[in-house]
Amino acid sequence: MRQLKDPELLRTLSYMDGAWHAPEATFVVRNPSTGEEIAQVADVSADDFSHVIAAAKTAQAAWAACTGKERAAVLNRWYREIVANVDDLATILTSEMGKPFAEAKAEILYGAGYIEWYSEEAKRIYGATIPGHQRDKRILVLKQPIGVVGAVTPWNFPNAMVTRKAGPALAVGCAIVLRPSEFTPLSALALAELAERAGLPRGVFNVVTCLDAEAFGKALCTHPDVAKISFTGSTKVGRILMQQAAGQIKKLSLELGGNAPFIVFDDADLDAAVEGAIAAKFRNGGQTCVCANRIYVQDGIHDRFADKLARRIGELRVADGFTDGADIGPMINRAAVRKLDELLEDALSKGGTVVASTDGTDVSGTFFKPTLVTGASADMHLARYEIFGPLIPLFRFQGESEVLQLANATEFGLAGYFYSQDITRIWRMAEKLEVGMIGINTGQISTEVAPFGGIKQSGLGREGSFMGADDYLEVKYLCFGGVE
Ligand code: SIN
Repeated sequence: MRQLKDPELLRTLSYMDGAWHAPEATFVVRNPSTGEEIAQVADVSADDFSHVIAAAKTAQAAWAACTGKERAAVLNRWYREIVANVDDLATILTSEMGKPFAEAKAEILYGAGYIEWYSEEAKRIYGATIPGHQRDKRILVLKQPIGVVGAVTPWNFPNAMVTRKAGPALAVGCAIVLRPSEFTPLSALALAELAERAGLPRGVFNVVTCLDAEAFGKALCTHPDVAKISFTGSTKVGRILMQQAAGQIKKLSLELGGNAPFIVFDDADLDAAVEGAIAAKFRNGGQTCVCANRIYVQDGIHDRFADKLARRIGELRVADGFTDGADIGPMINRAAVRKLDELLEDALSKGGTVVASTDGTDVSGTFFKPTLVTGASADMHLARYEIFGPLIPLFRFQGESEVLQLANATEFGLAGYFYSQDITRIWRMAEKLEVGMIGINTGQISTEVAPFGGIKQSGLGREGSFMGADDYLEVKYLCFGGVE
């Protein structure tokens, strides 16, 4: 791995109860671009899960007793540590996940934004007063931290998905026991190192690295001292966690799969729509849950859009994430590439045509060239499943009601995008698209200041913005009687 300015940020032990824990077992973390081993990381056994949960419970009580201002100060120091170490954090991220270095830096700053935002919100966890329902009654509403949060984060944003959960949870006075993906644990451990430097009290932020995701998920869902689960990942796993958490009616925030429609109407600004499609589709090599999955283009603009998009795709540089000018790095592993090959094969067997694809070197079998498929149809697998890679299907449509029906014909409802200059259509589409987030004349929607989350089978709850704190709070209402 590339040399870090601060080698102490490359942590390989688990961070539990404020100490670096070294179990006997380890697992290997590899660079997906080269296959090179970059670290042996602690593989915490299921026996230790209850110890870390107990430590978090003890720490949470003291953390919740701090004032909002005290918690804000610690979080703000953590934010500044992250920003000061952006280059090293991005180096770790690119090494374990593969995304281009410039994009890794952008992720670190995006992720830091959640800590900064919630450091500010820590002082503003307001309750309410409600006029009493009888003359002698007075009503107050308190918001209190939910307790210990069990969190599970994915490999596609190894840094920002950690901070997106930790920011609000810690700001309101919860403690976190977090398991990062086994493919990308190093970014979360580096965040723990910086949290410690920032003075986060022991036991408040715990990073448990382990291979056995199933055992960890089950432990969180069934342990009485874990009050809430926050998960980002597939709908399939979200469903399992929900079933397991049902035993204790545990609260859940789930940020699950998507199948985002990206719709270009005849009245769109063509160049802006092409750039929007590039941004919405190829961010992180297509490996985000809000990536454009199905591109619907109206008949009158379809061919010009396809030509321009094909030209832009031809300019994308596929390369190792540390190569200057790389736009797209490797997929996370070979299985991801096989899935993309299968989706492409299925599309071609059902009448799709490949009209653009770039060149690229494939050192380790984990690269997939950006590929544009025209003539896509609803019976193709890529219309139904989350593609999660740089394969981009174009569907032709005639009218607004037709495309609305096609766009909503999915069990997912995370993000959607459309391009139009007609304000009445913009309102109609915005109200009728069945998703939690919409990009209108933009392909970039992710920010800490807005509520991120989906409807239908894309999840529960919201992350980010003033709404995100509520997912980590309980509401308690006090009714005062006899006030004459
Ligand atoms: C995700 O893919 O899970 C998150 C994407 C984002 O934050 O934009």
